Amino acid sequence: MQKWCLDEKGQPKIDKGAENLCMDESEICFIDGFHSKLYYRGYSIEELASNSTFEETTYLLWYGKLPTRSELNSFTEDLRRNRDIPQGAYDLIKSIPRDTHPMEALRTVASYLGNVDPEKGKLGVDSMPAKALRLTAKLPTVVAALARTRDGKEPIKPRSDLSHAANFLYMMSGKVPDNFWERAMDVSLVLYAEHEMNASSFATVVVGSTLSDYYSSIVGGIGALRGPLHGGANEEAMKQFFEIGSPENVDAWYKEYALSGKKRVMGAGHRVYKTYDPRAKVFREYSKKSVEVSKDPKIASIYGVAERLENLVMSQLCESRGICTNVDYWSGIVYYAMGIPIEQYTPIFAIARIAGWSAHLMEYVARNRILRPRLYYKGMLDLEYVPIEKRG
Ligand code: ACO
Repeated sequence: MQKWCLDEKGQPKIDKGAENLCMDESEICFIDGFHSKLYYRGYSIEELASNSTFEETTYLLWYGKLPTRSELNSFTEDLRRNRDIPQGAYDLIKSIPRDTHPMEALRTVASYLGNVDPEKGKLGVDSMPAKALRLTAKLPTVVAALARTRDGKEPIKPRSDLSHAANFLYMMSGKVPDNFWERAMDVSLVLYAEHEMNASSFATVVVGSTLSDYYSSIVGGIGALRGPLHGGANEEAMKQFFEIGSPENVDAWYKEYALSGKKRVMGAGHRVYKTYDPRAKVFREYSKKSVEVSKDPKIASIYGVAERLENLVMSQLCESRGICTNVDYWSGIVYYAMGIPIEQYTPIFAIARIAGWSAHLMEYVARNRILRPRLYYKGMLDLEYVPIEKRG
C-alpha cells in the first residue's frame, strides 16, 4: 500500500519541501550552491551583471542564445511598443483599495491583462512567446501605476525612448534617471531574472503543466513570490534593518533574536546556496556605491546596519551552518537609495522574474507532463457516516 511513498524497508519516504525532487531536465539555469556559482544558459551571473542588460538577458533566457545586434534591436523595439496598458487597467488600478499590498494588487492587474490580451483563450506553448513579451513589457507600467496611485499621484505613461530599467524609474518618479541609477536598476533586474526551479517558477510551471493559459501561470508565480520566505524577503530584510535602527544596536539584536532562534535573519539562508549567494555579492557592491552616490546619511546608516549584521551572519551562521546572506539581503538598500518605498521591492523582483518564469513555462510545456505528486496518507479509512443530529 502507498508504495510510491515508501522506501525499500517499507518506511514512509517523504521529501518535505521537495528538496531532492529533480523534476525535469533543463538548459536554462545552473546553480552550484556550494561554490557560489550561478549561470543563465551557460553564462555566469558575474559576466551578465557586468555586460548585459535586462532586455538582452531576457532574450537569452527565452531563446537560448545571446541575440545578434538586429535581433536585440527588434526584441527591444517590440518590448517598447507593448509598454502601455489599456485604460481599463488604469481604471482597475484606481479601484484597488490603497491599503492592498502591491503584490496582491499586481496579481489582480496581471490577471486582468490576460482578459484583454489579443490571444486570450489560447492555451499551450504556441502563443507563449508573444504573450510573454506583452506582459514583460507591461509589468513595470503596472507596478509604477500601482505605486503612484497608492501614493495619491497620477500614473505616468511609459516612454518608448528609454531602456526597460530607465523607463521604469521614470514612471515611478517622473524623472529620467542618470546613468548610475539606470545601470543599478538594470543590473538588479538581470540578477533577479532567473533562478532555476524556485518556489515561484515551480508554481508557474505547475499551472502551465495542466495546459492552462500563460497569464494564469504567471499569476501563480506572482502569488508564490509574494511570501516572505521567497521574494517577499527583500522587503522583510529592509524592515529588519530599520527595526535594528543603527549599527550600534546590531550585536544586541543579533544575540536577542537571531542566535536565540526567536527570529530568522531575513535575507539569509537558502535552499540551494550553502555559501555566499553570488547575486548578493553584486548587490552588495551596488549598495555600497549607492551610499557613495546618494551621499545621504540615512542610507549610510542603514547600510552600516546591514554591513555589521552581515559580518555576524557570515562569521557565525554561514561558517557553521551554511546560512549565509542571499540576494534579498542587499537589494533593498539599492532601491531605498533610489527613493522607492519598501513595499515596492517584491514587485520589482516580479518585473525581473517574469523573464525566468516565462522561460521555464516555454521549456516545460513544450515537453509537457502534468505535475502531480503524491502524499503519504496517514488518516483513517472506512469511517461510518453519522447523521448530523446524532453527532453529539
Ligand atoms: N535565520 C536563522 N535561521 C535560519 C534561517 C535564517 N534566515 N534560515 C534557515 N534557518 C535555520 C532554520 O531555523 C532551521 O534550523 P533548525 O534545523 O534548527 O530548525 C534550518 O536553518 C533549516 O531551515 P529550513 O527552513 O528547513 O531551510 P529551507 O531550505 O527549507 O528554507 C529559506 C530556506 C526559506 C530561504 C530559509 O533559509 C529562510 O526562511 N530564510 C529567510 C527568508 C529569506 O531570506 N528568503 C529568501 C530566500 S532567496 C529567494 O527566495 C529569492
